[in-house]
Amino acid sequence: FTIPAPVNEPVKGYAPGSPEKAAVKEALAAYRSVETDVPMIINGQAVRTNHKLRISPPHDHKHTLGYFYEGNGDHVNQAISAALSAKAEWASLSWENRASIFLKAADLIAGPYRARINAATMLGQSKNAYQAEIDAACELIDFLRFNVHYADEIYRQQPNSSPGIWNRLEYRPLEGFVFALTPFNFTAIAGNLPASAALMGNTIVWKPAYTQALSAKVIMDVFNEAGLPDGVINLIFVDGPVAGDIIFNHRDFAGIHFTGSTKVFQTIWATIGANIHKYRSYPRIVGETGGKDFVVVHESAHVDEVVTGLVRGAFEYQGQKCSAASRAYIPTTLWPAVEEGLKATLSKVKMGGVEDFTNFVNAVIDKRSFEKISEYIETAKTAAGVTVVAGGICDDTIGYFVEPTVLRVNDPTYRTMCEEIFGPVLSVYVYEPEQFDAILDLVDSTSPYALTGSIFSKDRTVVEHVTNRLRESAGNFYINDKPTGAVVGQQPFGGARASGTNDKAGSALNLYRWVSARTIKETY
Ligand code: NAD
Ligand code: ALA
Repeated sequence: FTIPAPVNEPVKGYAPGSPEKAAVKEALAAYRSVETDVPMIINGQAVRTNHKLRISPPHDHKHTLGYFYEGNGDHVNQAISAALSAKAEWASLSWENRASIFLKAADLIAGPYRARINAATMLGQSKNAYQAEIDAACELIDFLRFNVHYADEIYRQQPNSSPGIWNRLEYRPLEGFVFALTPFNFTAIAGNLPASAALMGNTIVWKPAYTQALSAKVIMDVFNEAGLPDGVINLIFVDGPVAGDIIFNHRDFAGIHFTGSTKVFQTIWATIGANIHKYRSYPRIVGETGGKDFVVVHESAHVDEVVTGLVRGAFEYQGQKCSAASRAYIPTTLWPAVEEGLKATLSKVKMGGVEDFTNFVNAVIDKRSFEKISEYIETAKTAAGVTVVAGGICDDTIGYFVEPTVLRVNDPTYRTMCEEIFGPVLSVYVYEPEQFDAILDLVDSTSPYALTGSIFSKDRTVVEHVTNRLRESAGNFYINDKPTGAVVGQQPFGGARASGTNDKAGSALNLYRWVSARTIKETY
């Protein structure tokens, strides 16, 4: 049989009066009215501890949405044991049966769970309805369906044979268990990291960010209803270093599927390196990490496209995307029009809670993030050579709100041009058009990251020149578009340098990392 090429899940519009809007409103109200209980799930069993932690909406942090239960080292060991016990049966299941579970999970999210997973993402992670829909619904559905399609391609890849000799490749799962460690900002990533490795026959210990507890529960409910056997994916809420200390010392640790910050990934990599003699096999280390994503604007660019690209690229989901446009290089000839466009657009965007669907900007994820972003903004306000073009107000009285902020900096190496802030802050350097090549050198050299970037230009020679010059500066490069919003199956996503191992989530490149092939030669 063949698996038909999947199509991307259509994004629903949430227009006033639409059935999807009514459904998500109902799910939001349900979450608001009844506290949700979020246990760990180890070997299919709900595990609760005495250490209950509160879940609250970042845009309304005094409200309690429910509680999750924090575990300790014992729970990590239990999750590892559960994954190892479930392994033989799961790995011996035909791959079509594994695929069927994840295809059913995709259908469940597309149908009965759509409003719930979107509402959980909206409230728990402070995403507006449209951002939640493209993340928790469409991107997660796409990951699940496209993974099956790419896995099918992988399993069909076989070496040549000749008369009297039959060569085979057997795509075994990794020996041991896989650790999935996920960030707060994408429900789709949280679901995909354990699911993609599990699809290839692995069993998983999954630790999400604590701020994602609400949507993590929906993901586990979906996998459970889709028929995922107990122990294949084990959800734990354990402090990262505590979990890491046990997992990275375990003989059967087979690999890590990580998305998060560069700093944490580098710590993990160093720990794995230091422990390398303890493992049965070399662990697979797959990590997608931070970014300082650029927008280069050439004189020939169309100003309206630039303004739209910057506003959407920098400020959707409060700039909390690894791909967010956070530094822009704009020629003096276009800056007055771009500045006016940015001010005019930003003066119209609304900021507030997710229940009001007209709010473009919601809150940043938590107090720690709020404080980090505020520090960058407050320091910039009084720094020499920095002008606040728009925004600049941070207020955490009700929620962790940071206005979309545009800084114009005179020094292209100022910290906001080089460091990942992970918030709604766009830094702009205005250059003389004849400096264009020097600007490209700066783009490439002033940040350690290489995740996403854009060139805006109507001149094909310029587009070609920049595409070649910045070949190593981004894993996802956009021409006349914002550097965010990669679609599974269309723009495989990931970056190099300090941005990750570039294994392109949602593609065959990623799935290959979760198998260890055995070559079999048979002679007649
Ligand atoms: P984070 O690195 O703080 O956390 C990621 C995960 O690691 C969480 O589950 C966290 O609890 C855990 N963790 C933290 N410290 C740990 C330690 N010492 N040992 C073991 N586990 C530990 O990241 P975050 O704040 O949740 O997410 C934001 C970051 O993720 C940004 O840097 C962003 O660029 C990056 N990100 C990258 C991509 C990508 O595809 N490149 C996508 C999304 C997010
Ligand atoms: N894949 C996400 C994007 O492209 C992070 O914006």
